[in-house]
Amino acid sequence: MPATVIVGAQWGDEGKGKIVDLLAQDSDLVCRYQGGPNAGHTIVVGEETYKIRALPSGIVRGKPCVIGNGCVVDPEVLIGELDDFERRGHSVDDVHVSGNAHLIMPWHVAIDQASERRLGNLAIGTTRRGIGPCYADKAMRIGIRVQDVLDPKILRQKIEVALAEKNLWLERVYDAEPFDLDTVASQYESYAQRLRPFVTDTSLIVDRALRNGKAVLFEGAQATLLDLDHGTYPFVTSSNPVAANAATGVGIGPQRIDNVIGVAKAYVTRVGEGPFPSEIAGGDQKRMRELGHEYGTVTGRSRRCGWLDLVALRYAVRVNGIDRLALTKLDVLSHFPDLPVCTRYRLRDGAETADFPAHQSDFHAAEPVFETLPGWREPLDGCGSLEDLPGAARRYVEFVERELEVDVTLVGTGADRAAVLSR
Ligand code: GDP
Ligand code: IMO
Ligand code: MG
Repeated sequence: MPATVIVGAQWGDEGKGKIVDLLAQDSDLVCRYQGGPNAGHTIVVGEETYKIRALPSGIVRGKPCVIGNGCVVDPEVLIGELDDFERRGHSVDDVHVSGNAHLIMPWHVAIDQASERRLGNLAIGTTRRGIGPCYADKAMRIGIRVQDVLDPKILRQKIEVALAEKNLWLERVYDAEPFDLDTVASQYESYAQRLRPFVTDTSLIVDRALRNGKAVLFEGAQATLLDLDHGTYPFVTSSNPVAANAATGVGIGPQRIDNVIGVAKAYVTRVGEGPFPSEIAGGDQKRMRELGHEYGTVTGRSRRCGWLDLVALRYAVRVNGIDRLALTKLDVLSHFPDLPVCTRYRLRDGAETADFPAHQSDFHAAEPVFETLPGWREPLDGCGSLEDLPGAARRYVEFVERELEVDVTLVGTGADRAAVLSR
């Protein structure tokens, strides 16, 4: 397993953190390649629960970790996480942050919040952590990067230049409070003190690891349908979670990536606004939410719940080049007698398709066509292997494999790190 990407195959929260934690056991380096503290990756180890937003999940196994150039870093969140891991007895000495990653500044958060408020009914439902405005400044070439913390004079200068424009924007466009240069500069100078030892050329670290035959994991945040290019735009995040971006997001060539593992729930959830064809109508939505504890890690918002959508998942297999699938939270389905699975969409002209619509109006109007599979009713805690699964649960997994032409090699049967069956 030399270089493996773990990518979300739905709308996020598929259990990527747990799968990364599992595979990190046999890995030498774990890297995040995009996103920021909009991510919330949960790992349950017996009585301990880790909710990780900035660091790669490999930190829980004590593995060397990289935050790649494609990420956006909120220094307050990252420092909070570093401190928390140290307090809990984990070393953070082997954490490396790319100098080319962009810093989330307080105005990014303020603009994210103000712009969502202003959009009203049209809001995207972002996590309000400043992600979009930070990536926008990166693309505008006016961002402040992690390497800027290495030089206090440059850092202050950049903050001053940025504030001259951002304060106008905040006050005149959004009717929001401006920021004070001295306050922000001294706050970021103190973050700089703490972050300086972690800042390095992470592309070089990853390249060396691969050259030396080490196993490297690339941990996606968010997911395929939230991808800026391939997701359900505009209801997406502002980075590219898809697997190919793992190369750009850490600074290696695309041919270095050996495997792509997609992570999908055995059903689907989505936080925030946007179309969601297989969303459950009626009481089962609430039941699914309660049984699966479907509340956001970062914002605490209720996640919308739907039946497994194989049209969307087939699309994720295509755009990521997924060669193996981890199907998580199968245990949650033990409570339903019948399990609808969306195998096609019915379009406005009545035609049915198994391929994800390329045009947003077709997708918005798509009606799910379900095939209903029998449920199993037995809990899955006792299963030690895929062969131990109740017959109907095994057939559910095999149905997914057949429809997608991809092997399901991992199945999640509970939140704990040990509750996973592998093939
Ligand atoms: P991520 O963002 O993709 O890492 O996923 P999250 O951590 O945000 O959400 C997944 C949630 O489901 C977390 O609370 C996990 O502890 C939990 N979880 C992961 N795998 C399983 C599973 O197989 N069964 C159950 N019941 N819970 C799981
Ligand atoms: P993990 O890594 C689920 C969603 C937000 C919103 C949209 C844009 O835990 O799977 P943003 O703050 O990124 O500008 O919000 O994307 N979103 C996520 N949904 N899991 C996530 O991360 C998400 N990160 C962002 O809810 O709809
Ligand atoms: Mg999450």
